Amino acid sequence: MTTAGAPRGGDPASPGREGRALEVELDGVTKRFEQGEGAALRGITLGVEKGELVVVVGPSGCGKSTTLRIVAGLEEADSGGVRIGGKSMAGVAPQDRDVAMVFQGYALYPTMTVRENIEFPLRMRKVDPAERTKRANEAAELLALGRLMDRLPSELSGGERQRVAMGRAIVRRPRVFLFDEPLSNLDAALRQELRVEIGVLVRELGVTAIYVTHDQVEAMTLADRICIMNKGAIEQVAPPRTIYETPATSFVATFIGAPKMNLLEGTVADGAIACGPFKLVAPPGKALPDRVVVGVRPEDVRLVGASDEGATPLEVAVAEPLGAETNFVLRAGDVELRARAPGFDPRDKGAAVHVSLAGATLHLFDPAASGARLG
Ligand SMILES: Nc1ncnc2c1ncn2[C@@H]1O[C@H](COP(=O)(O)OP(=O)(O)O)[C@@H](O)[C@H]1O
Ligand SMILES: [Mg+2]
Repeated sequence: MTTAGAPRGGDPASPGREGRALEVELDGVTKRFEQGEGAALRGITLGVEKGELVVVVGPSGCGKSTTLRIVAGLEEADSGGVRIGGKSMAGVAPQDRDVAMVFQGYALYPTMTVRENIEFPLRMRKVDPAERTKRANEAAELLALGRLMDRLPSELSGGERQRVAMGRAIVRRPRVFLFDEPLSNLDAALRQELRVEIGVLVRELGVTAIYVTHDQVEAMTLADRICIMNKGAIEQVAPPRTIYETPATSFVATFIGAPKMNLLEGTVADGAIACGPFKLVAPPGKALPDRVVVGVRPEDVRLVGASDEGATPLEVAVAEPLGAETNFVLRAGDVELRARAPGFDPRDKGAAVHVSLAGATLHLFDPAASGARLG
């Protein structure tokens, strides 16, 4: 797949979208840990534009933190290179890279006040006291920390501590922000609130940022572009909408979107795809192999009346009313189908229903291990 979904970057002179310069470039980065089984990174090539917020998302252990740590200089690549602002980072120490990293564990100094914590990186860099105070005040204003400046970390909530950690990163005015799951220690409500704040902040500051998370909602809502990793490799880099509407692989298709996209085994013959109890019209003008994987998003699975077009009988295995919508798991023989209906749907477990896939957007994937999108 060399469509919009393919990762870009790598060529030092290659411009970003609309000709914007690339601020961070990873070029074929590989990494294998001595203790690890297999390669942690299997050739990561990614270009992040100046002022862009790229969210790197993927399951636990896929190599997100390792990628970020290599950009920060905390870990060394086995092969491949990293450039920041067009300069090779080979042999450049972490403190000389002009990046600031915000981690999951915020690690504030417990005996220092909020102000002292925020000013600390400037003190280390021997910035004069007046300038330190000025920058700390600016950060405090941006992060609404003003009234907390004289408190100790132990006197703060988790969300406030994470804001202080961000303040400490901001005062350095780094070229690049690196976030590694900064919100995963927080409860759901706070996570949502801070997620919005981080998005606003990064855009207000106009800095370049790489934000790592395993949370697809953070990825969809924060990113200019999402980079989806799986088993040490990038599967797709694209804006959130493209990722959702045109997933490059079956892995991407099921990783983003909740409930997950349905993947059904299909057999192609005479312009039709036989797929469990469904007989679907194959998209015209596409040369398809005999066997395909058919992806259908739950919102495209329509519950219909028995006499409607394409009505196929199934049984409700699970019904989950969430308020705004009801999620179903439906069953016909050994085929399972996730469906999503608006509002409180009256159907219960065990009910007989009819489903139509007529008019549904079909995503077709190669049944081979790559799961590449077909056409
Ligand atoms: N210091 C290390 N020593 C050995 N293996 C490691 C080390 N750090 C990471 N790994 C392994 O490398 C892979 C990627 O890890 P990581 O980048 O932390 O994943 P993620 O952040 O996506 O959860 C995992 O299999 C992990 O076990
Ligand atoms: Mg990690």
